[in-house]
Amino acid sequence: MTRTIIEPFRIKMTEPLPLTTRPQRERFLRDAKFNVFKLRSSQITIDLLTDSGTGAMSAAQWGAIMTGDETYAGSESFYQLEGVVRELTGMKHVIPTHQGRASEHILFSVALKPGDEVLANAHFDTTRANVEYLGGTATDLVIAEAADPHNEHPFKGNIDLAKLEQHLRSRGDRVAMVLMTITNNRGGGQPVSLANLKAAKDLAHRFGKPFFLDAARFAENAWLIKQREPGQGQRTASEIAKEIFRLADGFTMSCKKDGLVNIGGLLCINDDALADKARSLLILTEGFPTYGGLAGRDLAALAVGLTEVLEEGYLEYRIASVRYFFNLLDKIGVPLMRPAGGHAVYIDAAEFYPQIPRWEYPGVVLANELYVEGGVRAVEVGTLMFGRTGPVHDEPAALDLLRLTFPRRTYTQSHVDYIGEVVEAVFARRSSQRGLKISRQSPVLRAFTAEMEPVALATATQGGR
Ligand code: F0G
Repeated sequence: MTRTIIEPFRIKMTEPLPLTTRPQRERFLRDAKFNVFKLRSSQITIDLLTDSGTGAMSAAQWGAIMTGDETYAGSESFYQLEGVVRELTGMKHVIPTHQGRASEHILFSVALKPGDEVLANAHFDTTRANVEYLGGTATDLVIAEAADPHNEHPFKGNIDLAKLEQHLRSRGDRVAMVLMTITNNRGGGQPVSLANLKAAKDLAHRFGKPFFLDAARFAENAWLIKQREPGQGQRTASEIAKEIFRLADGFTMSCKKDGLVNIGGLLCINDDALADKARSLLILTEGFPTYGGLAGRDLAALAVGLTEVLEEGYLEYRIASVRYFFNLLDKIGVPLMRPAGGHAVYIDAAEFYPQIPRWEYPGVVLANELYVEGGVRAVEVGTLMFGRTGPVHDEPAALDLLRLTFPRRTYTQSHVDYIGEVVEAVFARRSSQRGLKISRQSPVLRAFTAEMEPVALATATQGGR
């Protein structure tokens, strides 16, 4: 038995990584107003901003691209995709879209009335925004353990079943659906157990409500069930995924994650009348139902990706590589969101920098430090992204995390070792770091465009005036 779980692929085509010097990176970051969202890819060596649409396709997927059928209506690539999705999910109506949020917008447009409520373990940002945009309320009912980074609960994506039942009982007439996000991205890429999914479905159906999934990372969730849930270890991830999809009345999927493609989404529904309404809106906003906002070649690549993502060797490598990085940081003593999740490692930035007040954005400070140290880009998931502005300073978000997100099949173990060294260097000088303040922000989604400056510098500037 060998100890090393290897990348189950060899590299056929390469893309150079930009290598920069520290003085260059200091200048790039200053020019980007201390917000890594404003950097250009040519300034970044290793990009851990997101796992969405950033992965590598296989030779088989690139082959499918070349034989994709670009027929407007009735493309064979659509029927090929429909066949794969039906086999995997058992869903009657398979509706392609250009990405996850387009599926969400169409689903909530046809399934919600103003004043309706969606009950979820945890809504992803775009999901919540679409529910609210359409006049609904998005309620998160994830288990209490999810809020504690130190808690080792194996399924921190689970919904609190007692709270779900209570909501269905007291406000049932307003509830439009129960929605489970697998895995829970906001909470650290944490999975939902099969038992919890079944119980949530039973409750939804007992109260006559449809049960939906946000299945962006369904394969990683299935693999974590296989690894962590008693009685599931002997099954394949594919068997587990098939069972999960068959619990649902429908799902949305951003295929930019476990679809292993750079662009694509799905909206799948069993109910004929609801699917009819969704298709009408699809034609208005995305395109004809046999392409839905994608090129034929995109549909063809997705059909292959949805098959490859459930290969046991791939999932074993994928989850092992995230765990490998988690263990590297854990050994150094870096405070982490525990346990290791599916697609990312989350550093608890508030604990990393206890001297920086939460309203001086410890997660952004850490993102900037990793960039200056080694050209590594990660994303703050904390007070800059979710905090609310207050009279004196921001009201902090529930947690100040930094997400280091791993694109699929893209970086090797030596890249991961390098990132570990970068974090280690930044950790060693953590006590001398100061906070940041916002010099300019927009009223909505400020994290993407905010301009920041170091607190010390700002004070010095004011003092000099
Ligand atoms: N649902 C989940 C759980 C997601 O993580 C995302 C995207 C979406 C829906 C929306 O899908 O981007 O295709 O429109 N998450 C990305 C991220 C952006 O970085 O976590 P989309």
